Amino acid sequence: MKILNFGSLNIDMTYFVDEMASAGKTVASFEFGRNFGGKGLNQSVALARAGANVFHAGKIGQDGTELRDFLTSCGADTSFVALSSLPTGNAVIQVDKSGENCIVVYGGANRDISKEYASAVLNNFEEGDFVVLQNEISNVGFIAAEAHKKGMTVVFNPSPLDGIDVSLDDVDIVILNETESCAIFGSDNAADVEKYIEKSAQTLRVVLTLGSRGACFIEKGSVTTVPAVKVDAVDTTGAGDTFTGYFLAEYFGGKGVERSLKTAAKAAAISVTRKGAAESVPSREEVE
Ligand code: ATP
Ligand code: RIB
Repeated sequence: MKILNFGSLNIDMTYFVDEMASAGKTVASFEFGRNFGGKGLNQSVALARAGANVFHAGKIGQDGTELRDFLTSCGADTSFVALSSLPTGNAVIQVDKSGENCIVVYGGANRDISKEYASAVLNNFEEGDFVVLQNEISNVGFIAAEAHKKGMTVVFNPSPLDGIDVSLDDVDIVILNETESCAIFGSDNAADVEKYIEKSAQTLRVVLTLGSRGACFIEKGSVTTVPAVKVDAVDTTGAGDTFTGYFLAEYFGGKGVERSLKTAAKAAAISVTRKGAAESVPSREEVE
């Protein structure tokens, strides 16, 4: 079983503030961090640290080779990561006293994923393999459709919500938070999402994350819910990515829904007690 994560790689510039800056306002930051991030990279780090066999594909600029080196050091296969003539993607992140964040992402090299490059990568995978996608690279809809045609299991995390071009008909598992669920299913209530799944012709499975209230797994006829682990959050950036990587590593490894959700909740809880995104993803030993 091979897992391909086709996703973004970013440099995160994180500003810790008392109160988020808003229109017309300038605020002082009392701490700054430059970290490794990008939803794709974070999820690959979590998959690798959880022990999964993950191949990362995506693009960086000449200025971003440290991201590839970091990902390799975490245990992901980065042989499909390619160089772009565009600069590496980056994110400007404000984190407030409660650990909540507000993010602006510049796509850069992440938006240079052509259909040709995507097809060349997908040629190395086959029926029975898995592909994990977020919405921070170009041509996500194309990759999902091609992977689906090949018989790969397609996982989609519709984050951020801007300009989604993926058809849910090409997706097997959606992993999303409350805001994304409201935008896609019209509700973040598990019962409503279940009704949506029952009504649709798809065999869609949904993982709905509810922040400090926990998470649930919804598929035709059943909802499994787990609470979050109580911790004092300092920076929630990457909590969803840590959850996704750990959940998929467990679930694809045959661990069952409840156990997979619980392990993912533990890993995500540890991650919110630390600053940064990829660097805050715990090791398997810490989670155990
Ligand atoms: P982000 O965009 O910040 O990475 P998200 O919005 O995609 O996160 P959330 O639903 O906020 O995803 O969080 C994902 C999971 O992380 C939750 O289901 C929960 O298990 C864990 N988590 C998030 N926030 C907290 C918290 N404050 N305390 C404990 N666990 C948390
Ligand atoms: O999910 C967190 C990530 O979102 C950050 O690492 C940032 O790069 C943005 O992509």
